[in-house]
Parts: sequence; structure tokens; C-alpha cells
Amino acid sequence: MPTQTVPHNEATISYDGKSISLPLVRGSEGETAIDIQKLRAQTGLITLDTGYGNTGSCRSTITFIDGEKGILRYRGYPIDEIAEKASFLEVAWLVIYGELPTKTQLEEFRSSVTHHTLLHENFRRFFEAFPKDAHPMAVCASSIAALTTFYQAPETDESVNDSIVRLIAKIPTIAGYAYKHSIGQPSMYPKNNLDYASNFLHMMFGTPCEPYEPDPVLARTLDLLLILHADHEQNCSTSTVRMVGSSHANLYASVSAGISALWGPLHGGANQKVVEMLERIAAEEGSAEKFLAKAKDKNDTTRLMGFGHRVYKNYDPRAAILKKHCGLVLERVGMSSRMLEIAMKLEEIALKDDYFVSHKLYPNVDFYSGVIYQALGIPVNMFTVMFAMGRMPGWIAQWLEMRHDPEFKISRPRQVYTGATQRAFVPIEKRG
Ligand code: CMC
Repeated sequence: MPTQTVPHNEATISYDGKSISLPLVRGSEGETAIDIQKLRAQTGLITLDTGYGNTGSCRSTITFIDGEKGILRYRGYPIDEIAEKASFLEVAWLVIYGELPTKTQLEEFRSSVTHHTLLHENFRRFFEAFPKDAHPMAVCASSIAALTTFYQAPETDESVNDSIVRLIAKIPTIAGYAYKHSIGQPSMYPKNNLDYASNFLHMMFGTPCEPYEPDPVLARTLDLLLILHADHEQNCSTSTVRMVGSSHANLYASVSAGISALWGPLHGGANQKVVEMLERIAAEEGSAEKFLAKAKDKNDTTRLMGFGHRVYKNYDPRAAILKKHCGLVLERVGMSSRMLEIAMKLEEIALKDDYFVSHKLYPNVDFYSGVIYQALGIPVNMFTVMFAMGRMPGWIAQWLEMRHDPEFKISRPRQVYTGATQRAFVPIEKRG
């Protein structure tokens, strides 16, 4: 349902003896915002909101989150229902085009994606140039940007649609190439008879010497992980995609910037940090309490990775779904559940601890995803790449929505300048 400005519903701001009225904007779930677009023109004031924690940067119809209640919906559909009943490509269609696909639409989409998984042969040389120990996120971000050099058609609805299919189709191939390059194995060509997740597992773990049969349970788990990451409204990487795209940069360039934003440990890189944290605790034997004490200490920079969220002040619904799957996957691959035990112990203690309770810190999606990726055999430095693969439909949908937004403007925040006021230049010979 589109949002609307309610003209007789206003907020009044008083400043310096004057007062002005600003319109309120209401979302379809009752969220209310003060539209401050005319604030500066009418008062000279700007708003200061470091980290944009309380700033709505756009109107959006894609994803709804109620962080207090732990609700996440894509296009109105609750995440737990989608996770249980849909496939990743079905969800990608839903997120990008706004409705669940018909059987024919899904079949056509699946076929287009399957037939665009190959990379141009020159890409191999591009990969060869990367050092062997290059981080796969760096390889992914630069490879996605490099797709622009292969596909230079002017921007039309049709060429954007081709780019959408290419991005969804090629990111698993790029990720597989990046991994194979890092371990010195020949890269595997995609196989058209495999579904999306199985094909990725084949490109990761297959070799030209031995056939690789992806386990359907593990492929379904991977599909589920991708679904859970498909969109998450205006987070750091998505806002980056919108910000870059707002200058009319093309979809590949915008998504590449999003991948770089996702890389950081406070965003998508947290899943890698969670596993490193669990491994450290495992190596130090039973130090969950000790670790939590460090995470609570104001003089220590340690954080309980995979805990806390800018928006969720309740259990992240994605973490709840993944926690249920952890045991199943570990059992399937016959792996020890030591890491899972430590994670569950940390969660149990943290959720009873005053510090975590009063700060409303709960497990987020990354708390359990790393344990599952590890069980799937995905190396730690590829975890964030998996996140990027899942987030691709969301970035695309948000970019498209921005481009079709009638209120569209280039993103250009303001600042409160706190530096030196005007001063005279001192020539070098007169400086100390
Ligand atoms: N461990 C210990 N203390 C924490 C944690 C944590 N994981 N997260 C937040 N806090 C404390 C923080 O020290 C601060 O305390 P105080 O108010 O007493 O100074 C308070 O909680 C608020 O923290 P903040 O950093 O101002 O909150 P934020 O909304 O800016 O940050 C966050 C959100 C996700 C960056 C943060 O919770 C964090 O660093 N978590 C660990 C990293 C992590 O798991 N990131 C993945 C996020 S989910 C995946 C995604 O969507 O990207």
C-alpha cells in the first residue's frame, strides 16, 4: 500500500520564538515520520542524526521490520512462512518485482538465471591477476564492478532487466571462482541441470577429477540462508547501493559499492567474527563467562559478535529460524556440535544478564549463520560473500525502487561543521 502525506496531520517545531508546521507521513504499518524536507528552507535549521539512526531516507514498499516485536516481512509476507515454503529464486522475484511469481514467471526466471551463469572467458584472466590470498569480498566487489566493462548497453528497462538476471546468475559463479583461485584449483563451470544452491556447491566443491553430488538437504539449507538474507531495508550496504545509484551510477557499480559496505565486521563481516569468537572460546575451554565479562566492560572494545542490532531490540526472527536449523545440518554432516553448544551457552547466559537485557541485545542473523556455513564446508573468509549472494535481490530491488521514485533526488546529506573558523594561511618557512 502506498504511503501518503496527510496535510492536516502536522508536527509543530518551535525555534527562536517562531514556530512552523511540518507534515507527517504515515506508512502502511502506522509508522509516522516528520517530513523535514522544507525545514531548512523555512528556518535555516538542519537535523543532525549521526549514523542515520532516526532518519527515514526514502519511502519503500519492499521490506517491513518491527524491531521491537522482532517482525520481518518481504512485500508483506512473514519471513518464517517464506523461509519454509519458497525457494531463493522465488523470493528474489518477489523482492525485486513486488509479487509472488506465477509458475510460468518463475520457470522463465529460473531458466534465464540458469542460462546466464557463465562468465565471459576473459574473466579468467581477470581472476588470474588477483593475488592468491586476496580476500574473496575484494574479488567479488571488483568483479561485479568489472561486469560493467562487459555489458555497456545504455540504460533502458530492458537492459536493466538483463543486468538483474546477470547479477543474480553470475554472483555464485564469481564467488566459486574466487574460492577456487584462493586454493589454487581450476575453477568449475556452472552446470545447467542443477538448482541455484546446488550449482554453487558444485562450483565450490567440485573438481574436474571427481564428480560432485550436492546433498539436497545441504543445498536446501544454503537456499534458506540466501532467503533469510534477501533484504533488510535501509541497512548500511543497501543505503550505499541507493546512495551510489542516486548519482545515476549503473546497477553493477552500485551493487559493487554495496558489497564493499557489507564487508565490514559491524555489518556482513560479523558472521566471520562470530566463528572466530566461538573458536577462541573453544580453545580457551569454558571461557563463555569470561568472554561475556569482556564484552560488558566499558574499557574493553570486545563485543559479543552476532549480538545486537540497530533495528532489532528483540530476537532477530532470522536468528530464530537458523538456530532451529543448526542441529539438523550438523547432524547431517556428522559434525561435532561444540561450536553450537558454545553459541547456545553464550546466548543463554547473555539473555539472563542485566547488561544484555537492559541494552536490548539479542542474537542477530549472524550469530548462528557462521556455524551453519562451517557445517556446509564454506571457509570462514567466504561467509560474507554468502551474505552478498543472498542480499543481491534486495540491493537490486532497492536500486530499482529508488530509480522509479517520483521524489527521487541525488543523495546529499548535510553536516554540522565543527572545524576551525577562517584563518590566515601560514607559509611553510614561517611554520615551526
Ligand atoms: N556486545 C556488547 N555490547 C554491545 C553490543 C555487543 N554485541 N552491541 C551493542 N552493545 C552496546 C554498546 O556498547 C552500547 O553500550 P552503551 O550504550 O552502554 O555505550 C549499546 O549497546 C549500543 O550500542 P551501539 O553500538 O551504539 O548500537 P548500534 O545500534 O550503533 O550498533 C551493532 C548495532 C550491530 C553495530 C552492534 O550491536 C554491534 O556491534 N554488534 C556486534 C556486531 C554484529 O553482530 N553485527 C551484525 C549486525 S546484523 C547483520 C547486519 O544486518 O549487518
